[in-house]
Amino acid sequence: MSTSPPPPRDPTTLRSHRWFGPDDLRSFGHRSRLKGMGLADDDYRGKPVIGILNTWSDLNTCHSHLRERAEEIKRGVWQAGGFPVEVPMMSLGEMLMKPSTMLYRNLLAMETEEVLRCHPIDAAILMGGCDKTTPALLMGAISADLPTMFFPAGPMLNARWKKETLGSGSDAWKYWAERRAGNLCDQSWCQIEDSIARSPGHCMTMGTASTMTAVAESLGMSLPGASSVPAVLSEHSRLATRYGRRIVEMGWEDLKPSRILTAASFDNAVITDLAIGGSTNAIIHIIAMARRAGVPLTLDRFDELSRLTPVVANVRPSGAKFLMEDFYNAGGLTALMKQIESLLDTNCLTVSGATLGENIAEAEVYDDDVIRSLDNPVYREGGTFVLRGNLAPHGCVVKPSAADPRLFDHTGSAVVFENYADMKARLNDEGLGITADSVIVLRSAGPLGAPGFPEWGMLPIPDRLLKAGVRDLVRISDSRMSGTSYGMCILHVSPESHLGGPLALVQTGDSIQLNVHERRLDLLVDDEELARRRAAWTPPQVYYERGYGQLFCKHVTQAHDGCDFDFLQHGQPTPEPDIF
Ligand code: FES
Ligand code: MG
Repeated sequence: MSTSPPPPRDPTTLRSHRWFGPDDLRSFGHRSRLKGMGLADDDYRGKPVIGILNTWSDLNTCHSHLRERAEEIKRGVWQAGGFPVEVPMMSLGEMLMKPSTMLYRNLLAMETEEVLRCHPIDAAILMGGCDKTTPALLMGAISADLPTMFFPAGPMLNARWKKETLGSGSDAWKYWAERRAGNLCDQSWCQIEDSIARSPGHCMTMGTASTMTAVAESLGMSLPGASSVPAVLSEHSRLATRYGRRIVEMGWEDLKPSRILTAASFDNAVITDLAIGGSTNAIIHIIAMARRAGVPLTLDRFDELSRLTPVVANVRPSGAKFLMEDFYNAGGLTALMKQIESLLDTNCLTVSGATLGENIAEAEVYDDDVIRSLDNPVYREGGTFVLRGNLAPHGCVVKPSAADPRLFDHTGSAVVFENYADMKARLNDEGLGITADSVIVLRSAGPLGAPGFPEWGMLPIPDRLLKAGVRDLVRISDSRMSGTSYGMCILHVSPESHLGGPLALVQTGDSIQLNVHERRLDLLVDDEELARRRAAWTPPQVYYERGYGQLFCKHVTQAHDGCDFDFLQHGQPTPEPDIF
């Protein structure tokens, strides 16, 4: 069988040729300054310039190994005849950034788009992993539409404390509740602090980080299997070098996100997110990425797919016991996608140059308790449900797979907190009469109200109830929650209370009815009374007087629209000036 020769590689077709090729004064300047860095013509001329967009930072605890990985990527780029350039990017480290990394997701997306546009970059690797870094980098890259691959930071190793396995986030919440219930001494609490983050890498539960890196891979934007490899394994270093080699080819092929991302690839991403029992945050990020790609994904599509997609990853917090290291050892995401292959469109193209179906053809499950089959799922329906009702006309979400089934069909009396400070001050006030059947409501916690859409949605349970053994309550807010959180937390209520959404009108003592299986959330107050309350409602003050915060508040869209800025959501890439 004869194979066709590789296409001719004409350096004048490279985007970077416009910087380095011409015999004019500007190009002389570009070339001479590279020479000033010690580079010779042979190092870069006529080669694809590979941007390595690195979100390493001493303030991002999850990305502490990414400087090393950038060097390993460069090794692959040199091997394949490219010219690597590393570019430091704003990093959104979940643990140390206040008020919320979500305030800055769109800023990193803008930075990514503009960094790609304004530099002589032919193709790029996006290095991210800690929650918002993944969607931010991808949103920007989709809009810039240069050949791009997403390189995931990889999860931490499983943590251990005494005989227990500890999962990031989830076990912090769990043992904090035990401590407040009086069941955990100071010494044990300190030991857990020492143990719970065992290595470099992002959270090793199926939190937002593991979810979004899996989403990137199922979209076709990462190499097969990449998202499951723990951060500190030698395999992760070899993966980096493989990325370096592949991105040079992608530069020559001009394989852009617009050739990879379609309505079908976004359906694949949603189905994969549901099948892994992914973070509720994914719904916001996937919608934002889809709109950037011109795919009009809505909450309704999410809901349709959630009814068809079982949860097959037995990974915490949805699953019972396992963590990402176990998931990797069980075969990782390619094995999971093989299990749900009948639900996916396997013809979608990916950054490997092959289709999704080709990527997973050889994948195998090595532990069918960790990665279940469609016949033996962890849950029959998707991990995230979209609810509607008069309390959330534009929808809200809940993750029933991580909640107490006692509360699936529940009517209770509301206890309302005006904002986070109010909740913190009064939660343990016995006069509020909060019981296991109450419905706790928090407002002013949405994209505009908080502002910045923080992860406050796993509202705390009062100490008195914790001591009495209560571990879940119905909790409703216009907030998000960490992907590592759990409980009957109704999130992303849209429109948010700050805009006068119905959540703004709830009063303590009102009845609220939740029916998870019927996808309903209703405030049992008649329309006249609600109209009276609406007439008396006054809009809250704007939080930011200046700066980026003001830009955010002027342009951020609501949760059901993905919280992107309105002026970035749609449209063709901004044309590049041809004179420069
Ligand atoms: Fe970075 Fe959880 S803190 S992924
Ligand atoms: Mg998180």
